Amino acid sequence: MTDVIDTPTINPISTSRHGDVMIVTSNNPPVNALGAAVRKGLVAAIEEADGDEGVQAVVIRCEGQTFFAGADITEFGKPPVMPWLPTVVDTIENCSKPVVAAIHGTALGGGLEVALGCHYRVAVKEAKLGVPEVKLGLLPGAGGTQRLPRVAGVQKALEMVTSGAMVSARDACDVGLIDRIVEGDLLQHAVAYAEEVRDVRPLPKSSERDEKLADARANPAIFDEFRKTNARKFRGFEAPEANIKAVEAAVAKPYAEGVIDERNLFMGLMSGVQSRAQQYFFFAERKAAKIEGIPDDTKPRAINKVGVIGAGTMGGGISMNFLSAGIPVTVFELNQEALDRGTGVMRRNYEATASKGRMTGEQVERAMDLLTPTLEFDALAGCDLIIEAVFEQMEVKKEIFTRLDKVMKPGAILASNTSYLNIDEIAAVTSRPQDVVGLHFFSPANIMKLLEVVRGAKTAPDVLVTAMQLAKKIKKVAVVAGVCHGFIGNRMLMPRQVEATKLLLEGATPEQIDRVHVEFGMPMGPFQMADLAGVDIGWHRDPTRIENIRDALAAEGRWGQKKQAGFYDYDDKRRPSPSPRVQEIIDDFAAKQGVTRRDISDEEIIQRTLYTMVNEGAKILEEGMAQRASDIDVVWVYGYGWPVYRGGPMFWADTEGLQKIVDGLRAQRDQMGSDFSFSQLLLDKAEKGEKFTR
Ligand code: 3HC
Repeated sequence: MTDVIDTPTINPISTSRHGDVMIVTSNNPPVNALGAAVRKGLVAAIEEADGDEGVQAVVIRCEGQTFFAGADITEFGKPPVMPWLPTVVDTIENCSKPVVAAIHGTALGGGLEVALGCHYRVAVKEAKLGVPEVKLGLLPGAGGTQRLPRVAGVQKALEMVTSGAMVSARDACDVGLIDRIVEGDLLQHAVAYAEEVRDVRPLPKSSERDEKLADARANPAIFDEFRKTNARKFRGFEAPEANIKAVEAAVAKPYAEGVIDERNLFMGLMSGVQSRAQQYFFFAERKAAKIEGIPDDTKPRAINKVGVIGAGTMGGGISMNFLSAGIPVTVFELNQEALDRGTGVMRRNYEATASKGRMTGEQVERAMDLLTPTLEFDALAGCDLIIEAVFEQMEVKKEIFTRLDKVMKPGAILASNTSYLNIDEIAAVTSRPQDVVGLHFFSPANIMKLLEVVRGAKTAPDVLVTAMQLAKKIKKVAVVAGVCHGFIGNRMLMPRQVEATKLLLEGATPEQIDRVHVEFGMPMGPFQMADLAGVDIGWHRDPTRIENIRDALAAEGRWGQKKQAGFYDYDDKRRPSPSPRVQEIIDDFAAKQGVTRRDISDEEIIQRTLYTMVNEGAKILEEGMAQRASDIDVVWVYGYGWPVYRGGPMFWADTEGLQKIVDGLRAQRDQMGSDFSFSQLLLDKAEKGEKFTR
């Protein structure tokens, strides 16, 4: 429908005319990030529209998959190139002709700020809008914290800036963030809208609106209430508080002063380590999807039907991922009771989600309709992917894979959900090791975002590519790991557990160690985690053995939360309290081993438990068990809740200083008798003053 193309295309911004409406188009793949050339082009286009009497209105739109998805994050930390985004937004708002944003895809961050600078916003109904800066440890820094509450109201703005969550076009329309939702040709509708509003004056400027601030002005206590309600969610993060302060300024001060507060808060965040960590993590997550040494044109296998062996906690959770994504699942169990229990748990989980309003009853039924429970092993034969999720015993797994090899159709992918065992050994019992892969889900498998994709020595490239693509489809973040005991995540957990247990003998308590980890930002400490997962894991194979504190607890039936007793005592509501009996057991072991007990500082706990983890991470890297340091960080953030504002253990190690870590580890080994071997990579990098991550 465009008539004349005026501007050559090296500039990502081009203009064209439809009657007296100027159409400004951005074409900056993949996501129309607002890089310097886009910013410059936008300002030039608006100036052109302003100065041209033949132009009566302007439409700003984007080519490709999305409206502007924000500032160009790759420019952060580099010298600024003018014009700044705030200038661009102000230029749009100050245009003497009405400007309409035509939104499709995702209008995010700076992209939404550009839209807020426009006088009107129309969007397709599939569009999503949001200010995800908080996820990068930032705030909307181009007037967004000042304009958003004026347009969408203070409560909505607070929710959006602090969560970074996207809202649908419908919700955006309900709060006034979108003026019209259109169906069909977006550009055509946007131009029609521009023609409708061509003569409306004064132009509605977001920065000049005040009416939606009135309630909060009358009741400024809402900010503290908001802080209180969300305190748990914001724990440890700097950016949510800065976002709240900026919105508070929008309410308490005139626009011109509010934007100065916003700028100062933005610069404060931008120069901090948290934002650096979160920006690093944004790219780390995307890099994780890339598999080294595999041709780019490798085609994935089609996965239209999935089989799951085992309907227990893991198998059930795994099945739900596929059901939720619309992929049929056949789940196999050995007896009817276990099968019924498993399907019952899945249904109840879905119904609980529905009761929170996150699913409709119809969606629950649709998901459950895709499930085929079976007691017949042969019923799995037609599946394109089969995931074995039975207990961790090599012999059992081998038996299952031998059977799978006999019944599965050629080309089916055979996966194990093992969290420690050797995938190559499992693959070796089949005649098709190229089709075997590890798919290690984390518990609860329907919720945790991480998936370790374990690459066996013979795993075929297209199997890996299929696994990575499938992961995205079921909304997981996949990381490729090599075959080693515990892969990436659990392998690093082991040295941490060893040091934590040693610290108990030397004088620390479970409460102190857990508290230090929680204050560091982890969701729970090592002993809380042991109680949740089960203190008895691994102990049943030899219940006569009492070699350490954990064995002693297991032998007394202190198996963790499920028994209301583990490293802690638990009441009926599973609230923990320190256990005198556990202290006796610890004292007993310390005495037997002749350990002199002393006061342990919080700092020592961090160093002893986390430095050893970093050392193990470095070994994983040097052995090629992880493709890159950032993959290890992705595992820890998504698999174990490592605080994203610290980037992940390898990024954190870099901020701590590798030499400091090496010195700490040496002291640990020489003075505390800790038993571990150094990673040569860690030693080399420390000596050369290098880092693991960039
Ligand atoms: N800047 C630079 N590159 C970006 C980018 C951005 N804002 N957003 C995405 N990209 C890149 C990704 O790194 C990726 O590159 P790659 O192909 O080389 O790995 C590519 O674009 C595609 O991204 P995704 O793989 O994430 O594609 P999806 O289709 O899954 O998702 C998206 C698209 C929803 C737009 C998602 O990319 C996203 O959430 N982007 C970030 C949005 C954001 O955080 N915006 C705020 C930026 S900060 C800001 O605006 C500050 C301002 O207030 C001053």
